[in-house]
Amino acid sequence: MIKVIITGSNGLLGQSLLSLLLKETEKYQVIGFSKGKNRSGRVDFKYVAIDITNENLFKEKVLELHPNCIINTAAMTNVDACEKNKSDCDTLNVDVVASLIQVASQINAHVIHLSTDFIFDGKKGNYKETALPNPLSYYGLSKLKSEEILTKSKINYTILRTILVYGKVVDMSKSNLVLWVKEMLEKKQEITIVDDQFRAPTYAAELALACKIAMDKKATGIFNVSSNTVLSIYEIAQQIADVFSLDKTYIKPISTATLNQLASRPKRTGFDLSKTKKQLDFHPKSFREDLQIFKETFM
Ligand SMILES: NC(=O)c1ccc[n+]([C@@H]2O[C@H](COP(=O)([O-])OP(=O)(O)OC[C@H]3O[C@@H](n4cnc5c(N)ncnc54)[C@H](OP(=O)(O)O)[C@@H]3O)[C@@H](O)[C@H]2O)c1
Repeated sequence: MIKVIITGSNGLLGQSLLSLLLKETEKYQVIGFSKGKNRSGRVDFKYVAIDITNENLFKEKVLELHPNCIINTAAMTNVDACEKNKSDCDTLNVDVVASLIQVASQINAHVIHLSTDFIFDGKKGNYKETALPNPLSYYGLSKLKSEEILTKSKINYTILRTILVYGKVVDMSKSNLVLWVKEMLEKKQEITIVDDQFRAPTYAAELALACKIAMDKKATGIFNVSSNTVLSIYEIAQQIADVFSLDKTYIKPISTATLNQLASRPKRTGFDLSKTKKQLDFHPKSFREDLQIFKETFM
């Protein structure tokens, strides 16, 4: 039996992990940590309402529960909010990871942590796990700092880097590209989408599967996890329209420069997925295939 704590269990990846792991209750004892009440709509796991930035309480709770594995999905993910509130961003995205390392070393727990393509500057794309990071935003920098304290630590850790995660869970605190494009096109509202940024979108259920594999295999090190398709965000929106049979003439291309966003975004990301395929035996699908599965599962 693996006892696993999922931080951020109310979130997109958190709830996707609950759905996956709670199918095997004979194998996993699942504990969810999130802020406020349990919003997953599930009662078949232990839920702890906790602000994980409360360092003493967080450490105390983890030590008391003594898990074999902790999957850290909680993060400040709004890139512009991180640029504005750097201290809050550091507290959740970096300091919590430092606390996790301290407690994990006391109980010999495996820590699985989520990172991002935003640690790169987006000049090259198709990044390997060993590529040189150069974040353009504070969010990217905070995630890079969290990676660095993990890689310097002596605990068993896995870092899963991912890109533009989408999916649907109960009572979501934020939307994502797929849900937003679908909703706007259903309302027949014109949307402007950048055609000069390139990403490989990641289905949350697939990312949850990669976390589960990493936990089962006790894999250590850094792994890339995304779909196998790099598209412009404009092309991503067009494929969403195709799969959901919506009118794509409402999607208008614009350039990043016209957006005036607070934080800079990398132009082209996407990952080299060979290490993940080989060592995790995780085989990413195309964006269109994942989107089709997403549609059949949730819509
Ligand atoms: N989403 C993406 O496109 C993307 C891309 C690359 C990497 N990632 C990484 O993937 C991971 C998962 O992302 P996600 O999209 O699943 O995030 P998410 O939906 O925002 O989920 C994070 C969860 O953590 C909870 N949380 C926030 N602060 C907390 C605190 N102080 N104490 C306890 N819980 C707290 C949030 O609570 P509330 O729901 O109450 O706010 C939320 O439920 C993150 O590490 C992120 O950096 C995401």
